[in-house]
Amino acid sequence: MSKTRLWVRALSATALSLAAVSAQAQTTVSAPPAGRLLASNCFQCHGYNGRSSKGFEILAGESASEIYNELREMRQKTGSDVGIMEAHSHGYTDAQLKLIATYLSKQTP
Ligand code: HEC
Repeated sequence: MSKTRLWVRALSATALSLAAVSAQAQTTVSAPPAGRLLASNCFQCHGYNGRSSKGFEILAGESASEIYNELREMRQKTGSDVGIMEAHSHGYTDAQLKLIATYLSKQTP
């Protein structure tokens, strides 16, 4: 077999395995559950999926309406007396807070 033919064979084998890898990647990557991306912003303090182990409030499994109402209440605070959570809650719309609260309420503590 000529050198050129060997190269063509090697290249097409590589192309085939790359195609297989990318097809596999496409099937295993799916959209994250609603609210998860937004809620992931809370994990740095409240723990992964709201399972805090560092003294921050455990949000996993808490009632969605409780989390939602607390966040809305905190969002109303303005001025110089604004703490971490008050400032944080200002970044979300009502609909986003609902998604976050629903996602966290469905996690096991
Ligand atoms: C930078 C750290 C930090 C991040 C990020 C953070 N929190 Fe908090 N959270 C705190 C601290 C500190 C407290 C307790 C003090 C306070 O209420 O301000 C708290 C308290 C809370 C409370 C309880 C309030 C109450 O009155 O009992 C809820 C609910 C809450 N956080 C939800 C969230 C959600 C949802 C997110 C993400 C959108 C989030 N937190 C992101 C630090 C954080």
